[in-house]
Amino acid sequence: MKKIKHEPSVAVCPGSFDPVTYGHLDIVSRAAEVFDKVIVAVLNNTSKQALFSVGERVELLREVTRHLPNVEVDSFDDLLINYMKDKKAHVIVKGLRAVSDFEYELQMASVNRKLDEEIETFFMMSSNQYSYLSSSVVKQIARFKGPVNDLVPEAVEKALDAKFAALQKISPLV
Ligand code: PNS
Repeated sequence: MKKIKHEPSVAVCPGSFDPVTYGHLDIVSRAAEVFDKVIVAVLNNTSKQALFSVGERVELLREVTRHLPNVEVDSFDDLLINYMKDKKAHVIVKGLRAVSDFEYELQMASVNRKLDEEIETFFMMSSNQYSYLSSSVVKQIARFKGPVNDLVPEAVEKALDAKFAALQKISPLV
C-alpha cells in the first residue's frame, strides 16, 4: 500500500546548480514553505563539463540558503531515488520554466516513478521574472563580463568573476 503522507515531509531539489541562480533560489525557498525539510542535492555528474567543482557549488548554495533554516545542501553520486531512500525523502521538487522544460521533466518524473512508486515529483512554475533564466545563460553573460547582478546572488557573481579571471590566466582564449 502506497503511503502518500509522510511526516516529517522531506523534499529533495536535485540539480547541477552550476552555479545556483535566483531561479533556483525561487524554487528552493518556495519549497521550504511547503515541506518540513528541503535538501538541495547537487549531482556529482562526471559526464557533464562543469564550471564549478561540486564542492564549490555546495559552498555557494550553503551561503545563499543560509537564511532558510529548514534547507540543507548536500551532493550525491547515485540514482536520485537511491539517494532519496538514504535520506528518507519522498518528494522531488523541480522548477518548470517553459514548455521546453516539460518533455525532459516528464521523462525524468516517469522514470523515477517507475523505479520507485512511493516517490512523487512535484513541479513548481518558475516565477515570471526567472522564466528565461538558466545557469548556462548566466555563464555566457559572465564569461564576457556582462551584468549578472539581477540573475544571481552577490556571492555567486563574485565566484563567477574569480573563476573566469583564473581561467583567463591559464588560457587567454577562455
Ligand atoms: O540541473 P539538471 O542538470 O537539469 O539536473 C538533472 C538531475 C540532477 C535532476 C538528473 O540528472 C538526476 O536526477 N540525475 C541522477 C541520476 C538519476 O537518478 N537519473 C534518473 C534516472 S535515468
